[in-house]
Amino acid sequence: MNDTRLNRLQQSFGIIGESEKIKEIIETIDQVASADITILISGESGTGKELIADALHRHSLRKHHPFVKVNCGAIPAGILESELFGHVKGSFTGAIDDRKGYFETANNGTIFLDEIGEMPLETQVKLLRVLESGEFLPVGGSRSKKVDVRIIAATNKELFEEIEKKNFRKDLYYRLKTITIVAPSLRQHSEDIPLLVERFALEFANRNGIPFKGFSPNAIHILENHSWPGNIRELKNFIESMIVLEKGEVINSAKVLKRLGIEKRPISTNLPMKVSKSVDQAERELILQQILLMRRDIADIKNVVTGDYNHISLESTPRTTELQRYIAPVHEEETIESEPEYEISQDYLVNPNQLGKVSLQEVERELIEKTLRKFHNKKRQTAAALKISERTLYRKIIEYGL
Ligand SMILES: Nc1ncnc2c1ncn2[C@@H]1O[C@H](COP(=O)(O)OP(=O)(O)OP(=O)(O)O)[C@@H](O)[C@H]1O
Ligand SMILES: [Mg+2]
Repeated sequence: MNDTRLNRLQQSFGIIGESEKIKEIIETIDQVASADITILISGESGTGKELIADALHRHSLRKHHPFVKVNCGAIPAGILESELFGHVKGSFTGAIDDRKGYFETANNGTIFLDEIGEMPLETQVKLLRVLESGEFLPVGGSRSKKVDVRIIAATNKELFEEIEKKNFRKDLYYRLKTITIVAPSLRQHSEDIPLLVERFALEFANRNGIPFKGFSPNAIHILENHSWPGNIRELKNFIESMIVLEKGEVINSAKVLKRLGIEKRPISTNLPMKVSKSVDQAERELILQQILLMRRDIADIKNVVTGDYNHISLESTPRTTELQRYIAPVHEEETIESEPEYEISQDYLVNPNQLGKVSLQEVERELIEKTLRKFHNKKRQTAAALKISERTLYRKIIEYGL
């Protein structure tokens, strides 16, 4: 699919994201929407299953007919069957009239059976029959009715596990899963987070007339690295609450960390490593150490070649005195005096002695630069090691002028 078509579809579906995972979803919707085929959408909560179902209906030939959504988990098991298939007058206490069910209402259109894993086994039997013949019997009725309805089902449960627990019929499962669309967890396409944040923020701020000055790059970086167990729904709610709370302010990393409940807290153990040198100095020493080791290796090879085994070095690292000959004296201000130690949430690794002195941007820049160097400027490997998309890496390379 070309990019223009992809963008156009994406816009009409309201599905945000530039990752491969999202592109795949758009392409699948495009491929299967118009065929009259049953579709199962699976995925964790908040991943956009309903959004995908909406898109499937709106992109299908049934788009001008009803789209009926039924949350099988929200309707009491006892009445779900009559809600879906209708009932005839007097079939049970309270059935004072004949009543159409959702299937009849959805005739010629689409029915979305959300949380299908919650459907009681007896109702599953009836559903299987509709799927196979388009026919069903209203509760208490004696004559079958026929409908033309396309079925889209969604689940955040693993249905095969439900089969093992005897909560779900195997035959129905196989009938439903012919085409399965898996809505990815946000962790699987975290490279979309900056875009999602921007869109959600602007849309919410505009809709509510709240001034919005944006998120700082470091704040975005933190959001990108958060695990978001509630997926896009959780991210969206988070962004909206930040905008309400920080009206008109730039939302920086400190504010985000605070709202995420990630805060610096002093610790008494000696967990973080104490460094009595500046990063620069430590780095210089490391490089020198490597050079000295290389020199020594060359000397050793020479000695082996010439048969002089008496002068082969046995120490694995150069001695400090040997190093000091090569290290320029360090100015006082370059040395970082020791500071109280902090433990940062386990998700973030920062040299404790640098706290308060470096910005997240500097750390990010350094990390990207060094990782690029490590992988000889190979973007794909660097992006994979940093767990960001190549696209994000390119953006950062330009942003930091690397
Ligand atoms: N790719 C996306 N782009 C834009 N908005 C999204 C995207 N995915 C999800 N959302 C938004 O996130 C929220 C949750 O999505 P949705 O209700 O479709 O999730 P779900 O998978 O059905 O969740 P649940 O299993 O809890 O019912 C909605 O507000 C939806 O609009
Ligand atoms: Mg849903």
